[in-house]
Amino acid sequence: MADRKNPAPSAVPIHDILAHRWSPRAFDSRPVEPDKLRTLFEAARWSASSYNAQPWYYIVATRDDPENFKRVLDSFVEFNQSWAKNAPVVALSVAGLKFTHNGEPNRHAFHDVGQASANLALQAAALGLQVHQMAGILPDKAREIFGIPENFEAVAGIALGYPGDPASLSDQLRARELGKRERKPISSFVFTGKWGNAAPAVAEK
Ligand SMILES: Cc1cc2nc3c(=O)[nH]c(=O)nc-3n(C[C@H](O)[C@H](O)[C@H](O)COP(=O)(O)O)c2cc1C
Repeated sequence: MADRKNPAPSAVPIHDILAHRWSPRAFDSRPVEPDKLRTLFEAARWSASSYNAQPWYYIVATRDDPENFKRVLDSFVEFNQSWAKNAPVVALSVAGLKFTHNGEPNRHAFHDVGQASANLALQAAALGLQVHQMAGILPDKAREIFGIPENFEAVAGIALGYPGDPASLSDQLRARELGKRERKPISSFVFTGKWGNAAPAVAEK
């Protein structure tokens, strides 16, 4: 099941790695090799960021460290815990909300954390792993559990590993796992001249 694929039915061809990144809820029990896990965070490390502030932080736990694994899981909402508990690695991304060079608010902190996590997810796909990010976390609980300081904020949960057998999921989750992957059209979000004017150069032909 580790090689289960779910490629994006893109309107025009996109890079293989982009097409093959997706967010599974069924994970194989196979652990993630430590070298590969390190490579994922190295990919995050080389993300671009406003003022090169690198406002991304991660709290990570593997299943062979049950105490810390549970601490990360406890900072997810129940629905996400129900499937993420079977992933071999769970994590939380955290944003540093102020620039270290001048103490001013960093308006792009969440943006840059998201971008670092996108790098991580694409590196994962390149290694045959997949990442599932989650907005469904409990930021206040995460602050309490991990002692996240003021001016830092939990952004998203992450479950990662090799994709598993959809048969391991509940009927409802299996239906979502095997459902059609969908996106809105380019013309609905790329504009020219005025808000809402689809850009003909990139819109669907
Ligand atoms: C920031 C973010 C938050 C998300 N939150 C959740 C979540 O709480 N629970 C969940 O099951 N999926 C969550 N997802 C996964 C999305 O539902 C998924 O990315 C989307 O349906 C597109 O599917 P794909 O990633 O397989 O292309 C989240 C994804 C992102 C990027």
